[in-house]
Amino acid sequence: MVENFAALAARIAQLKKEKDAVILAHYYTNPEVQAVADFLGDSLALSVKAKDIEAKVILFAGVHFMAETAKVLSPDKKVLIPNPEAGCSLAESCDAEDFAAFKAQYPDHVVVSYVNTTVGVKALTDICCTSSNALQVVESIDREQPIIFAPDRNLGGYIKKITGRDNMVLWDGACHVHEQFSVEGILALKSEHPEAKVVVHPECKEAVADTADYIGSTAGILEYCGASEATEFIVVTEAGILAEMARKIPNKRFIPAPTTDSSCTCNECKYMKMVTLESIIACLESESPEITMDEATRSSAERSILNMISIK
Ligand code: 13P
Ligand code: SF4
Repeated sequence: MVENFAALAARIAQLKKEKDAVILAHYYTNPEVQAVADFLGDSLALSVKAKDIEAKVILFAGVHFMAETAKVLSPDKKVLIPNPEAGCSLAESCDAEDFAAFKAQYPDHVVVSYVNTTVGVKALTDICCTSSNALQVVESIDREQPIIFAPDRNLGGYIKKITGRDNMVLWDGACHVHEQFSVEGILALKSEHPEAKVVVHPECKEAVADTADYIGSTAGILEYCGASEATEFIVVTEAGILAEMARKIPNKRFIPAPTTDSSCTCNECKYMKMVTLESIIACLESESPEITMDEATRSSAERSILNMISIK
């Protein structure tokens, strides 16, 4: 935890009260950011939560597409993002104009997009999904109906494989963090810890996913590790989740998986780590930067997110 945590957390608590604000945070943010959140979750839980917030202000401690999703679902709230530079390599791999041209090549296809997209791409989407519900979303669509799945080729490929649906066309996007995990590194760790279970996020490449005992979203991984009889886990997703694992499941051991480049902390999402306690304070004090968007795009995007939320 950062050195002056108590003082910074006290200032945040005071500002939240003054501004009638709540803080939503993703599991990949810094541990001290997770510690000041009113609600911590995966991207699905955060989307659902954003819809039902009563406070006037939502501060989104996460990346830009997540704050945008909150604004789409809560247009009457002021939605703040501490660092607007906190993007997402996956969302950036799918430009809305390019995606519109791609979609035009497949006029009979239903569009399923991962929530890790810009509001412009969501507006071109029929049903959003997250890594928690991608399977249910695809299975809710008639088997004969062809699908465009965007933007993550790994999640799309995984869903295509487990459903056996050959009528899914994939957009060629990926996350820079999840693409970096090393199969050799995971297998080497597994031979040092033969009892450990390997838990993998579906944004990882197929060869990495093939090493898994469990594949699922961040929330799914947490649930699996808590319920499993195993006491050691090799964790193949962004390392921020280790803080929540230590809090929720303190009696078990979690080993972060290595990446292909041992000289960097490539298992960390540099965008998620841009959110700091200082940036949260500055953002609440000035009530900016604020997420804004035009109403036509917002309402189109809202339809695709609500279609997702309605699928249980
Ligand atoms: P979750 O859907 O597991 O929250 O993942 C979001 C994300 O950004 C993964 O990289
Ligand atoms: Fe985007 Fe990857 Fe960071 Fe998730 S971990 S927010 S997909 S860049």
